[in-house]
Amino acid sequence: CCHPTISYRPIRPSDLEILEQIHGDIFPISWIYRYESEFFQNVVHGRGIVAWAAVDHSRDDGKSDELIGFVTARVVLAKDSEIVDLLNYNSAESEWSLVYILTLGVIDSYRNLGIASSLILEVIKYASSIPTCQAVYLHVISYNIPAMHLYKKMSFKCIRRLPGFYLIDSKHYDAYLFVYFVKAC
Ligand code: ACO
Repeated sequence: CCHPTISYRPIRPSDLEILEQIHGDIFPISWIYRYESEFFQNVVHGRGIVAWAAVDHSRDDGKSDELIGFVTARVVLAKDSEIVDLLNYNSAESEWSLVYILTLGVIDSYRNLGIASSLILEVIKYASSIPTCQAVYLHVISYNIPAMHLYKKMSFKCIRRLPGFYLIDSKHYDAYLFVYFVKAC
């Protein structure tokens, strides 16, 4: 029937509770241990983390500014990153940086509407605006087919398989490393 009016904005302190709740709903419990309350505090206060929210302005349930999707990312120095070998310059002596996507999620009822794609575009736009930024990169757990399709569609390149990268409920899972270059290197 109705097309929602989705808009995108930076995440702010008033998003704290919902942000934490949605992470809990979307990601495996033991994975969330990696993201304790300090992580969520850092996200909403922009302490070392940049983050965008998707909200549905057309909601008439009083929640037209409530998060329905999010992406969180961190700027890291290229020379300290695990993909330094992919970057074709003398990174050890440079201030080149990368944007690392930490978490991305869209609540169930809003999936397949292009919201995650738009959130990733926000990250790419941000990375492109940093003169020293070379690429955006991230890890995906090997069974997450929707996420892998999404990143491939957004022109990320899958460049590495990392055996046993994730430990969830005492079981190891492989990860794939995806990279999107914002500057030729
Ligand atoms: N099966 C296969 N491909 C899919 C699916 C699916 N269920 N859902 C999305 N895709 C792919 C498709 O290629 C799709 O393009 P298309 O519609 O042209 O075919 C593309 O993703 C874009 O889809 P969007 O509508 O932009 O994605 P959506 O807003 O639905 O969000 C997401 C996708 C984030 C993966 C969502 O399903 C989700 O929140 N999943 C749980 C959390 C998660 O897996 N997050 C990513 C983990 S990786 C990380 O955080 C770094």
